[in-house]
Amino acid sequence: MPSHRTPARLLDRLTSLELIVVTGKGGVGKTSLSAALGNLLTAAGRTVLLLETDPRESLHRLLDVPPSGGEIVDAGRRLFLQNLQPRTVLDDLVEERLKVGLLTRRVLASPVYQHFAEGAPGLKEAAILGRALRIVEGHGPRRLRKVDTVILDAPATGHGVTLLQAPLLVAEVIDSGPVHRMARDISAFLSDARRSGIVIATLAEEMPVNETLQLVELLDARLARRPEAIVVNGLYPPVTGTGPEAATDDPALALWRERRCINDEQLGRLRDAWTGPLAELPLLPIDPGPALAGALARHLGEGLGATAAPEDP
Ligand SMILES: Nc1ncnc2c1ncn2[C@@H]1O[C@H](COP(=O)(O)OP(=O)(O)O)[C@@H](O)[C@H]1O
Ligand SMILES: [Mg+2]
Repeated sequence: MPSHRTPARLLDRLTSLELIVVTGKGGVGKTSLSAALGNLLTAAGRTVLLLETDPRESLHRLLDVPPSGGEIVDAGRRLFLQNLQPRTVLDDLVEERLKVGLLTRRVLASPVYQHFAEGAPGLKEAAILGRALRIVEGHGPRRLRKVDTVILDAPATGHGVTLLQAPLLVAEVIDSGPVHRMARDISAFLSDARRSGIVIATLAEEMPVNETLQLVELLDARLARRPEAIVVNGLYPPVTGTGPEAATDDPALALWRERRCINDEQLGRLRDAWTGPLAELPLLPIDPGPALAGALARHLGEGLGATAAPEDP
């Protein structure tokens, strides 16, 4: 790809993508980051679908809308939310392809299909990604025809890799026919750095950093992809006026300083091992809700706006 087409700023690059997969260890802020990215991209003029697969819905709280329960929810200007279970998406796909009511019901109810849907490696996961692809190509539900970008709030790390690897697996296991073609198209979409990207959320703590670095290796080994960025979330603000060695009688302050020391140490580890784009988000004294998503979006916009995009995506 000619390099002059690569946007110089990471934020512009993310804004130009059709699919952003947000992944990382559980509890590190994937959902909060997804909502913040949604805000940023819609502010940049994109129409965005936030796609959540966690059955315990939480994205809606950050957008101040009711839970999706599988439905498309209007979450503001150019922003939609949908919670979808991979199995439901797969069933829908079968229904759409067969198009014959009675036959569909028979297939969906048949033990062979049940076994296949649950057992075929990666099939359900590939269906989710396939759905994202159909939506950005304008073949999804009518209400989502204008969606430019799907932000997928992906399952936690291990499952995140399973998800991203799924189309490759399916294309290998099912080596011809429509399912093979679907899986092949999704694989191509996922390996095209002009169309899709992965953002890893982490905390600056030992275990999440370990897992993040493993994830970077796995993505490289299995998908030959580098994440667009690592976003370090929940950083304790530096304690001003007191070095790490300064004594304090205030246990809260001592704890705060201790957390920040750990943050600095782990940020250092991350920077030693990861030379790509890195953005930092502070721990904010705000409950999960639109105010948190908005504040994180502002911090993220500043961080990503000041970061150069990788030269050769
Ligand atoms: N930067 C932050 N500042 C304050 N609270 C945060 C921040 N990031 C996440 N949280 C809170 O931490 C919890 C876990 O975040 P969440 O985004 O749900 O993580 P995940 O989706 O990775 O499990 C939520 O209650 C969320 O509101
Ligand atoms: Mg979550």
